[in-house]
Amino acid sequence: MTDKNNPINWYPGHMEKAKRQMIERLRAVDMVVEVRDARMPDASTNPMLGNLIQNKPRVIILSKCDMADPAMSEVWTTYLNRGSTMAITLDLAHDPKAGKKLVQACLKVMEDKRKKQIARGIRPRAIRAMACGIPNVGKSTLINRIVGKNMVKAADKPGVTKSLTWIHADPQLDILDTPGVLWPKFDDPRTGTVLAVLGSINDEILDKRMVAMDGIRIIQEYYPGYLENLYECENVNPNGMLKAIATKRHILKVEGEHDTRQAAITFLTDLRHGKLGRFTLEKPYDKTEEDM
Ligand code: G4P
Repeated sequence: MTDKNNPINWYPGHMEKAKRQMIERLRAVDMVVEVRDARMPDASTNPMLGNLIQNKPRVIILSKCDMADPAMSEVWTTYLNRGSTMAITLDLAHDPKAGKKLVQACLKVMEDKRKKQIARGIRPRAIRAMACGIPNVGKSTLINRIVGKNMVKAADKPGVTKSLTWIHADPQLDILDTPGVLWPKFDDPRTGTVLAVLGSINDEILDKRMVAMDGIRIIQEYYPGYLENLYECENVNPNGMLKAIATKRHILKVEGEHDTRQAAITFLTDLRHGKLGRFTLEKPYDKTEEDM
């Protein structure tokens, strides 16, 4: 873990305001589309979201699945699929059908409600969904994928705050785009560590060597032997691994010593861009319904 005396802990001051806005926006929608990062489905969620949305149907998009461990993505989607929550994996960056898949998932989680409306003689209107996610999970990429020319302003819709932006994703689905107002949770220090390793919090103030060693430690735990194989070394601790990376990538100081800081930066950049392989840095663990 990163320095225990200085845990990564970041809470924007406007948290309460963001929460109030979220509650207000939730009133305007039928369901929620939550984007999380498939490589860290727990660390990349918002701690309060489960409580705030209560029983509203939810589609959880596990984004960046092209960089996540496919077997673990299966485990996670199975784990997250419960009640009126449906989890799907999406490669938002490359899959041209990502928008369509999202629409299908939203229709699916709203299916029962819409069927009941039809049975009562009500013709269902387009589903209203709110898109949300902590920064860097791929929410803008998702919106850009579906936005095309279909952007409409809330002013066109009755009973909805004017400043909000609605997107016609489909004749049956309007999506309310919320600015990145969500924040991750830090009650578990591992959350901050995983977010830092995958570059989802500003790491300018962090010691890159420490962050890289955290990443190495987690991969050594979940994928034993993988990094040893990649960097051609045996039984090394995280610091030894940085040296092995420096050797393999010829990252040396002028004096010929290993430049472990530069090796850490190279390792983190490669890891974050999926160049070292596909990893998921978290496993589901027992949590209460509220944590979900
Ligand atoms: P945000 O709005 O939630 O903050 O995230 P955004 O869409 O800006 O996405 C953050 C980065 O993640 C972007 O890369 C984007 O291209 C990438 N990304 C989003 N979804 C996917 C996905 O499904 N697969 C892959 N491989 N990449 C995805 P970027 O602008 O180049 O930033 P960075 O990667 O250099 O940090």
